[in-house]
Amino acid sequence: MKFFVRTYGCQMNVADSNEMSRHLKARGLVETQDPDEASVILVNTCTVRQHAEDRAFSEIGRLRRWKAKRAGRKVVVTGCAAERTKEYLQDRFPFLDLIAGAKSIENFGHMADQLLDRRETDEELDYAVPSIDDKVAAFVTIMRGCNYSCTYCIVPYVRGREIYHSTEQILGEVRDRVSEGAREITLLGQTVNSYRHNQYRFGDLLRAVAASEGVDRVRFISPHPYYMTDRVIEVMATVPQVCESLHLPVQSGSNTMLKAMARNYTREQYLARVENMRQAIWGMTLSTDIIVGFPGETEDDFRQTLSLIEQVQFDWGFIFKYSTREGTPAAHLECHPEALIEERHQRCLELVDRIALAKRSKLVGTIHEVLVEQDNFGRTRTNYKVRINGGEAQARQGAGLNGEAQARQGAASSNIAPGEIVRVRITNAQRATLEGELENGNITFENFR
Ligand code: SAH
Ligand code: SF4
Ligand code: F3S
Repeated sequence: MKFFVRTYGCQMNVADSNEMSRHLKARGLVETQDPDEASVILVNTCTVRQHAEDRAFSEIGRLRRWKAKRAGRKVVVTGCAAERTKEYLQDRFPFLDLIAGAKSIENFGHMADQLLDRRETDEELDYAVPSIDDKVAAFVTIMRGCNYSCTYCIVPYVRGREIYHSTEQILGEVRDRVSEGAREITLLGQTVNSYRHNQYRFGDLLRAVAASEGVDRVRFISPHPYYMTDRVIEVMATVPQVCESLHLPVQSGSNTMLKAMARNYTREQYLARVENMRQAIWGMTLSTDIIVGFPGETEDDFRQTLSLIEQVQFDWGFIFKYSTREGTPAAHLECHPEALIEERHQRCLELVDRIALAKRSKLVGTIHEVLVEQDNFGRTRTNYKVRINGGEAQARQGAGLNGEAQARQGAASSNIAPGEIVRVRITNAQRATLEGELENGNITFENFR
């Protein structure tokens, strides 16, 4: 029996999808990339903005026909929108077999048993089946939920209060992912750096994960500026496995807006943190999230956001149009007209893209350590995606295959192997995905360090 997973939303949801997939695989199901082949489709939804929810719901609507085509097919809806709108989903899509909100993900194993009509006694046997997930870059969830109440944000409502996984559990998961092929671990949480467990703070956890056998790279997402402490900065600066790249959402450059959003820092504090980090962490790339058109945002507030972007020179960024989420503190505030939000969105995007291109352009000719993820695509430590040109030829030479054998093996097998760390010289930076060429052939991680 095969299953297909569609994931909307953030990395947390991607990690949750992976976790649910592991539960299904442990029960003997096989993942497929083709919905037509599948007997179970799982749609993992997001509700952070109305648009995200609408997209998921229209996909769910289309699944009614998919389900009717073959007897025994099942549709499962999970995630944040499922948590928020359980009853509505049931009414609008009565054909759904299981609705499991984001808060109940830790129970998914039992729900899967019921869905698949498994009996409790099967459990031991089922769980003994190892999951094979050959992801070079893996996510490990270290905390769930969020204790903040940013006034625009639905996440705390659909994911609940913060719960921290134990350090032992996290290190165990890291070992599992490494044994499945991971070389890079991204620690995940809504405010990932607020992590604490017994005497362990986030910085200690970073160190421990970095020291785990087989882990070449560590990243984390999303940190909150408030917890970007000197201690965490020091770990980033000194522990070689921790990559010099940070996604640090700022949301706005105006203190009035930051206050209205209940972000507990000022523009000046954010800028000071950035300054500290840039001093300490050589070559660090920095990206951000910004919301434009929050209720009450004046032209002057908006210009302060633009000026903060100019000042920080973010390497890239995600710009979101404010979307009202029912039940959040900002929901009763009067909204700006859509045209004004759209106009600010365009202006902001143009600025962010212009800076991003200028920064990327400077990379042409520089050499980077790239961890190959698949099909000649990899990532620099600074988190740029890179296409490695000429990798095919190198790999073929190495394998010593004649032309016919190469042709038989096909394109996939002629790539540099996923999991390899190579040195790449950047040759083109026009697009967000850089292009580069292998420098001095392949080298191992050890002799590069
Ligand atoms: N926990 C993360 C962000 C989670 S949501 C953090 O605090 O950094 C991801 C991004 O979506 C946020 O950073 C914010 O920029 C955006 N976002 C959240 N709610 C939104 C809303 N109601 N409208 C528009 N953008 C929103
Ligand atoms: Fe939402 Fe704020 Fe929590 Fe991030 S920190 S998930 S933006 S409430
Ligand atoms: Fe969306 Fe839930 Fe993530 S609302 S952004 S999937 S936490």
